[in-house]
Amino acid sequence: MKAAYIEQPGPATAIIYGDLPCPTPTGSEALVRVTAAAVNPIDTYLRGGANYWELPRPYIVGCDLAGVVEAIGPQASRFKPGDRVWGTNQGLLGRQGTFAEYCAVDDCWLFPTPDRVEDQTAAACALVGVTAHLGLFRDGRLSVGQSVFVRGGTGGVGSMVVQMARAVGARVITTGGTNEKVARCLELGAEFAVNYKTQDLRKAITAFAPNGINLFWETTREPDFDEIVGTLSERGKIILMAGRDARPTFPVGPFYVKGCSLHGFVMFRATPHEMQKCAHDINRWMSEGKLQANISRVFPLSETAAAHQLQEDNTLHHAGTLAGKIVVVP
Ligand SMILES: NC(=O)c1ccc[n+]([C@@H]2O[C@H](COP(=O)([O-])OP(=O)(O)OC[C@H]3O[C@@H](n4cnc5c(N)ncnc54)[C@H](OP(=O)(O)O)[C@@H]3O)[C@@H](O)[C@H]2O)c1
Repeated sequence: MKAAYIEQPGPATAIIYGDLPCPTPTGSEALVRVTAAAVNPIDTYLRGGANYWELPRPYIVGCDLAGVVEAIGPQASRFKPGDRVWGTNQGLLGRQGTFAEYCAVDDCWLFPTPDRVEDQTAAACALVGVTAHLGLFRDGRLSVGQSVFVRGGTGGVGSMVVQMARAVGARVITTGGTNEKVARCLELGAEFAVNYKTQDLRKAITAFAPNGINLFWETTREPDFDEIVGTLSERGKIILMAGRDARPTFPVGPFYVKGCSLHGFVMFRATPHEMQKCAHDINRWMSEGKLQANISRVFPLSETAAAHQLQEDNTLHHAGTLAGKIVVVP
């Protein structure tokens, strides 16, 4: 089968597009014929040698996929051949990745693709959708009428946070780096969007939520806690999920005096049961049109290296040339 893989970590050009043996499903695995996969920033960190855990060699890049079950292992029970599925959490914790024509996935990490939902949509909502759901509901316990700020409303995670918060009746303020991105944030359901390069964010947040923000979702890798804590409400929650190397200063007094809390997590440590709960809502919202994939670019599998370069230029180097997800099609 064709696959995008690395023999050694390195720059995007280390990705090889070539032939690898098609896996055979064992145990509770399903063999999925991949029709769409999506790029996430973590794909580029792992390919670049982040060394969070040992990678299989060769290592097929990618965490997200959507496609059709071709065959199942002897203990697989959740799906049958012909079922449309999507999933995430592959390519992580030593597992093989998804950027290939076929992928063997333990069926606990797969979810049914609803009839009216396209595979590219399901793949593009996978890792980022699960992340947004875990942060907003498992950790943030968001409820109707609360105010949410998320930085980067057209970003992979940000666009999911905007739409999910809106879907449960929360009010959302977010940011975009251009006027076009600001307009897209409003289309996705934000009540207010700020061009952070030309407008005063602090002023906008205060006007939007005079008593402070109930849930502040930081997506960037260099959090400014003076800004974050300064804009929070009494008992406001901070969701933190990026910036492994960040060591910022922290305003301890203002934080605890307001009774605030800080919640950090990585999506790949969630249990299969937790992810299935997320997938249940994601499927419902995708079917109802309340959750759209914010796809910015589509590449053929053979151009995975270019797709990685584009993601890296934006997430690490703030190029601003991406306004959503990158989808890759075998
Ligand atoms: N912990 C987890 O489980 C988990 C899961 C998923 C992702 N992550 C991490 O979360 C981060 C975001 O992931 P993603 O997939 O959403 O990335 P992404 O699609 O590249 O989005 C990044 C967003 O950040 C915005 N941004 C960047 N610098 C900014 C700044 N200085 N001020 C305001 N906005 C800024 C960008 O907005 P503009 O384009 O408008 O500038 C863009 O919308 C990455 O570091 C990723 O590794 C963690």
